[in-house]
Parts: sequence; C-alpha cells; structure tokens
Amino acid sequence: MRLVFKGLPDNVEDWRRELMARIPDLDMRVWPDIGDPDEVDVVLMWRPPHGELLRYPNLKAILNLGVGVDTLLADPDLPEGVPIARMVDPTLNRQMSTYVLHAVIRYHRKLDCFAELQQRHEWAYERPRRNEQCRVGIMGFGIIGRDIAASLLHLGFRVAGWSRSEKSMEGVDCFHGRQGLKPFLAGSDILVCILPLTDETRGMVDAGIFDALPEGACFINIARGAIVVDADLLAALDSGQLGGATLDVFGTEPLPPDNPYWSHPKVTVTPHIAASTTPATAADQVAENIRRARSGLPLLNQVHHETGY
Ligand code: NDP
Ligand code: OXD
Repeated sequence: MRLVFKGLPDNVEDWRRELMARIPDLDMRVWPDIGDPDEVDVVLMWRPPHGELLRYPNLKAILNLGVGVDTLLADPDLPEGVPIARMVDPTLNRQMSTYVLHAVIRYHRKLDCFAELQQRHEWAYERPRRNEQCRVGIMGFGIIGRDIAASLLHLGFRVAGWSRSEKSMEGVDCFHGRQGLKPFLAGSDILVCILPLTDETRGMVDAGIFDALPEGACFINIARGAIVVDADLLAALDSGQLGGATLDVFGTEPLPPDNPYWSHPKVTVTPHIAASTTPATAADQVAENIRRARSGLPLLNQVHHETGY
C-alpha cells in the first residue's frame, strides 16, 4: 500500500513510526515528494489544496488528518466515489473536553471577577457555587460532544445535548432537531458549540440563538468560526445578553490583527489550539482504514456526503 501524508512537519516521523509499527510494508511518502501519483492508494492529509486529490487516479480512500471535513468537502474537484474517513482520536477528545472544562469552570466559579479583585488587592469572600447549579448545553452531541458531557457529569454539572437526530445518554437531557432547540437553549447557562460546519450549520448560531439563552449566559465555540454570525455575537456581548465568550475558531484564521474579538473585554481568543491529533492514539484507526481500503471494505468513521459530516 502506498500512502501520501500531508500534515505539519513536526510529527511526520511520529506518524511514520506508528503506522509502520502497524503496517510494516507501508510505503509512506511525504507530500510534496509523492513519486508517481498513479501508484498512490491512500492519502492521509490535513486540508490539501483544492484540486490536489484529483492528481491520484487510483485513490481508494481519503483519510482526513483531523476531525472536521468542511475544507475537504468544499473542494470543487474532490474525486467522486472515493470514500472519506474523518479522524476519531481519544486523546483529541480528551483535549477538547479539557479545554471546555477549563472555560466552564472559569465562568462558573467567576475566576475573572477574582482576577479583577486581585488587581485591586480586594478580598471579597463569596460562597462558591455548586456545580449542580450550572447547566451546560452542548450543541452538537457527537463523538466530542459526548466526551465533553461525560467529563462535566463526572464533576456534577447539569448537562444537556442537542443533535440532529434523537440521542440518549444517561444523566443528560437530550434534545434534537429544530423543535428541541428552544427548550435546550432556555436551560443552558453555558452553551458549547461543537457542531460540524455544513450547509445547515453555517451561520446557525445567530441572534436568535443568543436571545433564547438565559440572560448573562456564556458561549464557548470550539467547532468552526463560520457557524457563528460574528456581528450577532458581538451585539449579544455588548447588550449584556451574553456574559462572555471563549473562542478557539474563527471564520478567518489566523484571526486578523484588527478583528474586534482580540480586544473585546468579554472575549477570550485562542488560536485553534483546543486539540490536535496524536499519532500514537490515532494510528489504530488510520491503520485499520488502510487495511480496509486495501480489501475494499467500508471505512471506519466514514463521512456522509449527504449530511456533510
Ligand atoms: P460528530 O460527527 O461525531 O458529531 C457531530 C454532532 O453534531 C452530531 O451530534 C450531529 O447530530 C450534530 N449535528 C450535525 N449537524 C447538525 C444540525 N444541522 N443540527 C443539529 N445537530 C447537528 O463530530 P465530532 O464531535 O467528532 O466533531 C465536531 C466538530 O468539532 C468537527 O466537525 C470539527 O469542526 C470540530 N473540531 C474542532 C477542533 C478544534 O481544535 N477546535 C478539534 C476537533 C474537531 P447527529 O448525532 O444526529 O448526527
Ligand atoms: C479538527 C481541528 O477538525 O483540529 O481536527 O479543527
């Protein structure tokens, strides 16, 4: 099997080691040194340039070197009929949950207020709120959303999830579809967005969503920036409808230096660092998908073109 890898240079050798340990006869080529493109069976790539995948006429599988496939599916020259798998990596899920836990705890325990008090050398005791008093709504209740839910439940937070189709998880109030959205939002003191970016979700998080949250709610976006209407988010923060926002993802990345999010007092910006794929824990799925591609079997975590995720 011949595989072309395109990712960041810092962990190419880790990927090589992990994949070769699982498939010793793998011929792994690192983009752009791909050799003869006719020989390539599988690609493992993060955000290949549009048109790149058409260069490989004998491709059996496209393995996404990340979770979100929005950029990949936006390629007008995506080869037809080649199955695509997205990444599912337990380490990445845990990193995402850790990011959310940090932001939730920071809001729930008012850590920003105490940081301000410290600036003024002010000792203002306040009884800590119990975790059960904080309701976290997870918009997008898939692999990562459920991992986040489990982490929050473990600490006693109240958790709700919202998805496209009906879902269930012990201890979680599950909502789905348009009809479930309003009651889901009404019970979310902190809203976490972890939806995939699709035709349906682009621009979904707008003024209507923010207005349906309890006044002073906080918002955490670790999904994709284009799901959010930026002007509506800024207006909701300025009006006090939202108490704060933690944003890891943006419509334009890197976030331009003059973007208002940078200096907004209620916004925390991080540069899309909530999580990344770890070769040691992601390689099992990738290796299994290489074997499946070789045998013509359906891939694990295969992307559905109709839904866009
Ligand atoms: P999954 O496909 O496992 O889950 C997606 C969830 O969103 C599902 O519950 C799905 O519903 C729901 N959903 C999709 N469309 C709609 C809709 N129109 N209305 C309501 N619910 C919808 O994805 P993951 O949890 O693995 O990943 C989610 C996203 O996280 C990725 O696509 C990526 O963009 C982002 N991400 C960001 C990272 C970062 O570093 N910031 C790192 C990794 C991922 P249903 O269950 O019914 O299918
Ligand atoms: C991903 C990401 O989708 O890092 O994997 O955003």
